[in-house]
Amino acid sequence: MKFVQVTDLHLVPHGGPLFDTDPVERLRLCLADITVHHGDAEFVVFTGDLAHHGEVGAYEILRRELESFPIPVYFTLGNHDDRRNFRTVFPEAATDPHGFLQVALDTPRARVILADTKDDRAGIHSGVLCRRRLDWIAEAIDNAGGRPVLIGMHHPPMLIGFDAGVDVISLIEPERIWAILETRPQVRHLFFGHVHRPVAGSWRGVSFSMSYGTNHQAALNIWGARNKGRRGPAEYVVFLVDQEGNVAAHFHDYLYAYPEIAQDGMDGGPIPLSERALSSEELDALSPS
Ligand SMILES: [Fe+2]
Repeated sequence: MKFVQVTDLHLVPHGGPLFDTDPVERLRLCLADITVHHGDAEFVVFTGDLAHHGEVGAYEILRRELESFPIPVYFTLGNHDDRRNFRTVFPEAATDPHGFLQVALDTPRARVILADTKDDRAGIHSGVLCRRRLDWIAEAIDNAGGRPVLIGMHHPPMLIGFDAGVDVISLIEPERIWAILETRPQVRHLFFGHVHRPVAGSWRGVSFSMSYGTNHQAALNIWGARNKGRRGPAEYVVFLVDQEGNVAAHFHDYLYAYPEIAQDGMDGGPIPLSERALSSEELDALSPS
């Protein structure tokens, strides 16, 4: 099973530049690349910061760019978004019964849950999961029918060593979501927006991934005294889930057409399994040649 994550578009109205890059052009290239190379994806999930200042005009651009996109799309929100303006432009976007941008997406191999960590209080950039959202998430995990579960949200609950960056605006009260996860081992992977860098690791044993997003980036600023940004690649993430529920996350920088190269020594392709198969005894007897 394949699905794609796109995050942190930071669109601005009228297609204007943001931090000297063009977020609309980068989104357009992103959607085109996904269409050409991953048209077989089950869906594309957008994990927040769709707009930089949350204006209606920015969401209208997103709607326009998605008009002819052939793959189903689902959204949750980030700290830069405005819930009311988003709903004005996307009134049909899937929500939970309380109106939060939370949805459970089912495939035969896995359930993918989008959780809405947007704090609607003005000027607050950290994330929050209130009791209603947490209860819905717990129920969505429990109703996965035994399938493995992946959860995507904007704000990570864990710290990543960015002392002056996202660590000070991460998910508040992470113990509340952990209380749900720790008793539900069917949750195999967590993925996030917000960070603007590719980061992978585990949180109390649960694997997670984060991505550059499509517009601007956070600089690598571990234990830094102040937040730093930069311009650079743009990427989306292709998730594969196999029949055992194992997860692979492929980070793809789609902005530049890197040339392909011949792989010396691999030109003839792999040796067929029938020619390299060994018994357990033969494998254990292998020694350096
Ligand atoms: Fe962002």
